Amino acid sequence: MSTASIAAASLDVAAVRRRFPALSRQVAGRPAAFFDGPAGSQTPQSVVDAIGRYLVDTNANHGGLFATSRESDALLDEAHRAAADLLGADDPAETAFGANMTTLTLSLSRALARTWRTGDEVLVTHTDHDANVTPWVLAARDAGATVRQVCVDPADCTLDLTDLGRKLTPRTRLAAVGCASNASGTIHPVREIARMVHEVGGEVFLDAVHYAPHLPIDVRAWDCDYLACSAYKFFGPHVGLLWGRRERMEALPAYKLRPAPDDLPGRWMTGTQSHEGIAGTLAAVEYLADLGREQGAPLTRRQALLAGYQRIAAYERPLCRRLIAGLAELPGVTIRGISDLDRLEQRVPTVSITHQRYPSRELAEKLGERGIFVWHGNYYALSLTEALGLEPEGMLRIGLLHYNTLEEVERLLEELRRL
Ligand SMILES: Cc1ncc(COP(=O)(O)O)c(C=O)c1O
Repeated sequence: MSTASIAAASLDVAAVRRRFPALSRQVAGRPAAFFDGPAGSQTPQSVVDAIGRYLVDTNANHGGLFATSRESDALLDEAHRAAADLLGADDPAETAFGANMTTLTLSLSRALARTWRTGDEVLVTHTDHDANVTPWVLAARDAGATVRQVCVDPADCTLDLTDLGRKLTPRTRLAAVGCASNASGTIHPVREIARMVHEVGGEVFLDAVHYAPHLPIDVRAWDCDYLACSAYKFFGPHVGLLWGRRERMEALPAYKLRPAPDDLPGRWMTGTQSHEGIAGTLAAVEYLADLGREQGAPLTRRQALLAGYQRIAAYERPLCRRLIAGLAELPGVTIRGISDLDRLEQRVPTVSITHQRYPSRELAEKLGERGIFVWHGNYYALSLTEALGLEPEGMLRIGLLHYNTLEEVERLLEELRRL
């Protein structure tokens, strides 16, 4: 059976929800509706079990000549292979695990800064989370490089590629771009961006944190140089992942301790990692692959992941359509991002709104009291809220994941209508 025909089967959301114990939570006698996925998704029981199992059965440090350490190292090796499958990479050693995306990006940016010179240029964007802005601003400051910021179109929160083209020069060393905005939900054309940046001899760093729970990452096809994401956004625990091309990750001057390994991935994994977290990350990748697996169909993990993501996207899109259509009917509400229902493939189902009378904080609080979990403010996408002139109030963010239902969306719309 081909990957495409497997993915044609639809997602069984009731079965999905049974795997997530947190979703049974009640608030004031009603089921909680978790629209806070962009700040952190819930985890399936299989992830919880994998973390517990690690701590009970294989809790040990690296390199010991005894059973638990050997089993622990084997499990960590498997987690690197799973990360390669998730990211579309060939080489498991190219992915490092770490505390979170921010910490890993700061560590990479510090190493890259040592290769930059005064007068070099670095590009960041107005749409990105600050974790993909400030690390590069600090690195540029240390190297004496200049930072340029690519504009966003305020009408639909898409990245202005003409402005990007204008700001690329032969001195551009790096462009840091998000795959999808955690505020507006816009998907950025990263393959095209990588091509433009490479043309002037620069490198591309991609922030896939917000993209990973919705769509498949493909570092090979995108031809990027570095990419980071976070397992707690794709149904895993609080662990970050950093991928980079082998030749660069081997050559860059990583900040590391003397006894730590000099080869990959160890040179980027400072100190002792959260082994139980990495075990949970492996389980999260397996969960995503499970969504694409079908009885009797022998698929590689990468194929199963692609099939799982196809099901996720096919399920999320109509949900997003209903949410946007419903929000557009509410008086006083403005959608900050793509709202054209014919362009839904250019966004993930993360929808931010403002209301002409009510601040986002007030709406979030009222919805929270009614068991509807949404976010308010700038969610660290500070450059975007500044560019849109929405500081300090920010926006109200409704983040859909594949465990959300149409009934939850209708309930949210009904509560907003009443408010
Ligand atoms: C788009 C995006 N990038 C980066 C981050 C930072 O990730 P972490 O919390 O793993 O440092 C977040 C967190 O919300 C995010 O949404």
